[in-house]
Amino acid sequence: MRALKILFVTPEVEPFVKVGGLADMVGALPKELAKLGHDVRIVCPAYGSVKRVGEWRALETPLGVDVGPATQWARTWETVLPGTRVPAYFLENNDHFARPEVYTGPWGAHQDNDLRFAFLCRGALALCQQLDWIPDVIHGHDWTTGLLPVMLNTTLKDTPLGRTATIYTIHNLEHQGYSPSRVVEFARLPRGEFQRDGLEAGGMVNLMKAGLYHSTKLTTVSPTYAKEILTPDGGFGLDAALRFRAGDLVGIVNGIDDESWDPAHDRALPAHYSAADLHGKALCKAALQRHFHLEENPVVPLFGVVSRLASQKGLDLLAEALPAVMERMEIQLVLLGSGDVRLENTFQWAAQAYRGRCGTQIGFDGKLARLIQGGSDCFVMPSRSEPCGLTQMYAMRYGTLPIVRATGGLVDTVQNFEEGQPRGTGFVFHAATAGALADTLGWACATYYDRPQEFAGLQQRAMAQDFSWRHNAGQYVDLYRWAVEQRTGVYPA
Ligand code: ADP
Ligand code: GLC
Repeated sequence: MRALKILFVTPEVEPFVKVGGLADMVGALPKELAKLGHDVRIVCPAYGSVKRVGEWRALETPLGVDVGPATQWARTWETVLPGTRVPAYFLENNDHFARPEVYTGPWGAHQDNDLRFAFLCRGALALCQQLDWIPDVIHGHDWTTGLLPVMLNTTLKDTPLGRTATIYTIHNLEHQGYSPSRVVEFARLPRGEFQRDGLEAGGMVNLMKAGLYHSTKLTTVSPTYAKEILTPDGGFGLDAALRFRAGDLVGIVNGIDDESWDPAHDRALPAHYSAADLHGKALCKAALQRHFHLEENPVVPLFGVVSRLASQKGLDLLAEALPAVMERMEIQLVLLGSGDVRLENTFQWAAQAYRGRCGTQIGFDGKLARLIQGGSDCFVMPSRSEPCGLTQMYAMRYGTLPIVRATGGLVDTVQNFEEGQPRGTGFVFHAATAGALADTLGWACATYYDRPQEFAGLQQRAMAQDFSWRHNAGQYVDLYRWAVEQRTGVYPA
């Protein structure tokens, strides 16, 4: 079958710029698609904070981007995804992308995000035109890319790009990108698109909704989340729009980059290990205990957390459960994260209150995230909602048993332990309550102390899971081909 030309347009991509798992997904899937022989490229903004990993070269010709009253300009930087030949282009523009933040900024409500990301969408398309490289498929990610398929369906419909199909991946329906209607004019879209069956929601432009209505095919990042978002409870106000498009919506579990996330080679770990020989994991645990000034005790169960501190992640449940848990159980807990200030304060307080048993680091630290995955015995993820979740998969690969709430991708990736049975890769609970979480922490703790062989069996099964993109990249390729057929009438055989 013929190779496809696939363009990823994205607000984040690992290892250049990362806020959460979207960056990991966009940094990993193209690698696998390239291995399958496809011509994949990536476009992302060159924020002030972008890490210039590898060789960067500026394209000679400035990029004219047709937005606003007069053409605006970008400088295009070209590099490759490390370890591949996948071109990654970064658009530099002082008005839109100079500041370091990806989504937030000094404008409180981030009031310029509509313009910034309309610029990204039109800029990515202008780059295709400039390079005379017309993709078969453009794969957009979350609300920041919602206007791109609208452009292809309207103003660019009669250009060669008008035949390009679009795939739109919902990574998180909670963030929809509301903006004033001015963005319609700024993006030079027909005014008529500002309507209920399209961009409009509650008198504003809803960029997520724009993507949902206008893309050829939709995906989300796990089958369970694909079902949840069709319901009023999980639809965040867009369930009706999603039900309207349900025939084109597919849930595909994210893969992980298992070369980068490999305890046998991870350079962030002080010692390496594998399922066959876990000695190195004990050394990682000791290093983690030292990092957080915990008692260096090899036989106390150490629970780790690496997370954005957002309500979605349910860490308020952990905060609420903490006093009882720390009092009743002989455990240690370490947390790395940032976000909600109240939660930051609570976990910092806990590190003081349970000195030597509890450690907190506020901030974003990719290396420490890996040490926590390697050095912990269990990984705590009590998410209220979790479209896919990558950290529970990293945990399992590192022999660290996930403790998760049964929601979204956590249902699809973690099998619950059944005592006395050779089954399970972690501990699962259902109610979003501090009590249910505390009980499950207790269950994991008791398994660690009282049934070490069963705990070891869980570890072996967790480490034997294959979460790589080798399995699921093919599902995306199938979808790309169907999308091309739907768009052009011709299956790209
Ligand atoms: P989400 O995208 O909702 O935050 P995921 O589990 O999909 O959740 O992905 C989170 C990614 O961000 C993982 O790679 C995780 O290691 C990383 N991460 C989250 N918080 C931090 C942090 N404070 N420091 C370093 N890495 C973090
Ligand atoms: C979002 C979701 C997370 C998912 C990630 C990558 O940030 O919150 O569950 O794993 O995107 O798709």
